[in-house]
Amino acid sequence: MTKQRKILVTSALPYANGSIHLGHMLEFIQTDIWARFQRNRGHEVWFAWADDAHGTPIMLRAQQENISAEELIEKMNHEHQQDFKGFNLSYDNFSSTHSDYNREMVANIYGRLKDAGYISTRTITQLYDEEEGMFLPDRFIRGTCPKCGTEDQYGDNCESCGSHYAPTDLIEPRSVVSGSRPVLRESEHYFFKLAAFEDELKEWLNSGALQSEVVNKLAEWFEDGLRDWDISRDAPYFGFEIPDAPGKFFYVWVDAPMGYASSFRELCDREDLDFDEWWGADSKTELYHFIGKDIVYFHTLFWPAELSGAGMRKPTAVYAHGFLTVDGAKMSKSRGTFIQARTYLDHLNPDYLRYYFAAKLSNGLADIDLNLEDFAQRVNSDLVGKVVNIASRTAGFINKRFDGRLTDSLPDQDLYATFIQESENIAADFESRNFQSAVRRIMAMADHANRYIDEHKPWQMIKEEGREAEVQAVCTQGLNMFRVLVTWLSPVIPATTELAAEFLGVSVNDWYAIEQPLLGHKINPFKPLLTRVDPDKIAAMVEASKENLQVTAETNSIDTSNMPEIEPLADEINIDQFMALDLRVAKIISAETVEGADKLLCLKLDIGNQQRQVFAGIKAAYKPEELVDRLTIMVANLKPRKMRFGLSEGMVLAAGPGGSEIYILSPDSGATPGQRIK
Ligand code: 2FM
Ligand code: ZN
Repeated sequence: MTKQRKILVTSALPYANGSIHLGHMLEFIQTDIWARFQRNRGHEVWFAWADDAHGTPIMLRAQQENISAEELIEKMNHEHQQDFKGFNLSYDNFSSTHSDYNREMVANIYGRLKDAGYISTRTITQLYDEEEGMFLPDRFIRGTCPKCGTEDQYGDNCESCGSHYAPTDLIEPRSVVSGSRPVLRESEHYFFKLAAFEDELKEWLNSGALQSEVVNKLAEWFEDGLRDWDISRDAPYFGFEIPDAPGKFFYVWVDAPMGYASSFRELCDREDLDFDEWWGADSKTELYHFIGKDIVYFHTLFWPAELSGAGMRKPTAVYAHGFLTVDGAKMSKSRGTFIQARTYLDHLNPDYLRYYFAAKLSNGLADIDLNLEDFAQRVNSDLVGKVVNIASRTAGFINKRFDGRLTDSLPDQDLYATFIQESENIAADFESRNFQSAVRRIMAMADHANRYIDEHKPWQMIKEEGREAEVQAVCTQGLNMFRVLVTWLSPVIPATTELAAEFLGVSVNDWYAIEQPLLGHKINPFKPLLTRVDPDKIAAMVEASKENLQVTAETNSIDTSNMPEIEPLADEINIDQFMALDLRVAKIISAETVEGADKLLCLKLDIGNQQRQVFAGIKAAYKPEELVDRLTIMVANLKPRKMRFGLSEGMVLAAGPGGSEIYILSPDSGATPGQRIK
């Protein structure tokens, strides 16, 4: 056995304003598999975690529900933990960033940063919603992108051209909260001097702490230059007030990562651990953050810089993963693929999903697709058809004919040795988070085991006189291979392997125990460990997810957990402004993908007497060939825009929030290309 390591792992802290969905679960399951694997290897592992309880969306959500923010976060904390238990996540502590531990941690770290000269103040101008009496966070402002002119973009970045900008740069901004046009207002803000850490951060990011894709992304940010980070927000804000700064609160992203440390501090009190041993600047312990690729910036620049500025250790590594898609597209409420953890658990076994995610996760940033048909097929053929099958084909003979007793030696020790030889390769895959490869190796070994049983056919041998001992030996061999397989799989499918452990009468959570086969040992009666995925249950889960949508729509005017799908109406226009729009029926003559553009299709449109080329951001929603020959409506007198890919001569009308949920408008049959809409 290798030297025992001391490992602290975290998952990103989920916001306390929304339910847990399968997109969250991808990360939490990834973290949990890794933590369980490390424990099985004999290391000291702690998984400290919390809800991310502060910020404007939580404040607004509580207002909508007519409860206090404290009540809301309490309720969500309970709900989240129920979900996590349902998926058998093995965290050691689940706290809240609103805890007293965190309040103290934040004040302490901030105090050290301030004393060291890393905090400054200056007055900035921001958009302010006069109707609501509040400054607006970027995501609560929408308007037209200042770079490409696409309408209805968030205050911080454009989904169409990908550019980042300040909300004050937006054209025609409006508040998502009240729908009113925000005004500019000044306020004093507190800043963290990130640039002071540039050299240290560069050294850290080349220390192997980050994936290569992340290192490349960071290089771009360094090129742009590190700017001071605005760490304060004005009241009203649900968060921690900045010491000696009444009415000023820490921005949620200041106290959120500190929740990792304060949740661990709670554990220290409970488990008698030494906080400084784990978080001191010279710590020899290991600290790993598992996160989504959208929050890399916070975890690889601000967070390590804050830690360093406060005289604390930096993370050993930050591991980012891609997003989850379902059936090839962004999770969609209307299609029933926006699946909440609870809805999943109401219908399906958690191990199915844990296994499927493991089978698809590697250590890169690629998105992962949950294809519901493939999911059922994969679980049925691998877990039920290959792994559990080994036990169901052999256990009956041992139990019924040999009183549950295994033989004293293995008939094929070489075969067993090939399993043990593979063990370190599988461990290396788990260690490097290449779960996909680990699963592939495990299933290849399960194939070997099944082949062995197929070749020896105990069900035939048992009918032949004088071959009883052989049957017992073959089944002992089979069950030993089964035990190795479930030991390897135990970080992935803990509920099923727990049942397997009861049946085998030994723990399957010790990676090294399998080096000694189980011999002369008595097993327990076999009960089915896992049933096949029932497609009807999947269909019911999808249906129930559509129902969730209706409930949300009825109970919430703004669903702050997932930004509103129905937007407030734009400012009124008069008839002249309307008449200035030249809307035409257009026939799509061709539709093609655009090299280098993720979201665009290039459409050639016939509007009667002329043809137009338009770049439309509808690639995620339509296959090009589906569009050819369709009629649609275009704005024909929009000033042509030069884009990176060519000239766009107008705009096609479409509705929907974006991404794969966008629907182009079509006239009724009878309309002909070129006709003007009046
Ligand atoms: O993006 C999110 O969901 C955040 N609540 C993650 C916070 S992670 C950490 F920094 F607290
Ligand atoms: Zn843009």
